[in-house]
Amino acid sequence: MTESGERLANRRIALGITGSIAAYKAVELLRLLQGEGADVRVLMTPSAVEFVGTLTLETLSYHPVDADVLALQADGRIGHVAAAHDVEAIVVAPATAHWMAAMAAGLAGDTITAACLATSVPVVVAPAMDGGMYAHPATQANVARLREFGYRIVEPESGVLASGMTGLGRLADLGHIVDATVDALSGAPAPLPAEAPLSRSRGTAGTPSRGDLAGLHVVVTAGGTAEPIDPVRFVGNRSTGKMGIAVAEAALDRGAAVTLILGNTSVEAPARAHVARAETAAEMQAALRALTPAEGPRFDVLVMAAAVADFRPRSVSDQKLGRSDGLTLEMDSTPDLLAETAERVRTGGRGSGARRPILVGFAAETGTLERAAEKLRSKGVDLLVANDVAEPGSGFGTDTNKVTIYSTEAPPEELPLLSKREVAELLLDRIVVRLVAAVSGETTEAAAPEPTEGSQ
Ligand code: CTP
Repeated sequence: MTESGERLANRRIALGITGSIAAYKAVELLRLLQGEGADVRVLMTPSAVEFVGTLTLETLSYHPVDADVLALQADGRIGHVAAAHDVEAIVVAPATAHWMAAMAAGLAGDTITAACLATSVPVVVAPAMDGGMYAHPATQANVARLREFGYRIVEPESGVLASGMTGLGRLADLGHIVDATVDALSGAPAPLPAEAPLSRSRGTAGTPSRGDLAGLHVVVTAGGTAEPIDPVRFVGNRSTGKMGIAVAEAALDRGAAVTLILGNTSVEAPARAHVARAETAAEMQAALRALTPAEGPRFDVLVMAAAVADFRPRSVSDQKLGRSDGLTLEMDSTPDLLAETAERVRTGGRGSGARRPILVGFAAETGTLERAAEKLRSKGVDLLVANDVAEPGSGFGTDTNKVTIYSTEAPPEELPLLSKREVAELLLDRIVVRLVAAVSGETTEAAAPEPTEGSQ
């Protein structure tokens, strides 16, 4: 829960610390940004690490510190590129004369310059150095250049400097840096609960179990949507959300950060997941769109287990309808959220080189699964889990399921009757294979599934 009045609630911010004596103040700045509700991850130059240890910053930020421009994350992504993709603003404080010169010249020798080069999010720079250094025409030219990039410069202040002399070069008041960050983000849309800081899950869950999905963000939709007729009634379906929640729980146990977009369900959602409620197809669509902005998807895996209503009433009465008149409902088809999301993933940015996410659909069929292969193609997904809900043990609300997994890269795989948790684990096994193949380059961009003609 965020405190009301937090100006950076759920904002994801990278704090870049460079090698100035004022680096110790960045620890307090981190706390102030967090106090405003932000999820902060830290990038450091090697010389900043000489001033402040990474342990302090890792402990306080709940994230590994990225101080090595060549380092890979546990999920195989390049740390500073992932940071550039995942955050909504970068704050460089303190920024040294050297760092600004490198940035002005576009040199990517450290994780902060590299992230700034790779990103299009707002950058706030708070210089700190000796007065003479700040006044030098070279530094002033670099400051002017950074302004040309659109970066916000939080001017240093006059006061006693590390040299013992007095001059203009002291890191600005930390409150001003926080204000500049709030200002920089003021035009950006507020994140949905679904985008709440991933590090928070560590707070509620304690130490996550490490597994093959550690460091990855898995989004699961579950439950059925309810499309209102009037303030009392809705058009719904029999989905209980059990299958999707089993996938979410299994992914959490394998180390993933999980966002659960939840429709109507009779099952309790795992406390460790970030839960975003989506009562209607329109709300689920909004949540999915927020997770697939133009610059690239904000997840590594999407499992679309929700039973999205296929039809919704054309108009919704704001008064309860009386029984005596009877009722004829005109219904419209809902948009295909999965196909739309796959399209946004395919045509949107790649998040500075982050690999394409794995997309999984479900299909509840009756009598035959013959439409499943076509759904795999038309929706543009990597895997499609089909089941015959008319079969015993395979319907809505059961604890078991008998599924066939359709894949763009392998023949259909018919699994026996299993518990929903077992189905979830086997599905995640197949997802992990695809993720590993993508990292090692076996699944190329060209192999990304293309929808066939006629998909929505
Ligand atoms: N789905 C979706 N948006 C919809 C309907 C379904 O995103 N409006 C998703 C479901 O979450 C599921 C997959 O698409 O992952 C297949 O759902 P299904 O109902 O089997 O497919 P439809 O496209 O609705 O086809 P039909 O109803 O004709 O069988």
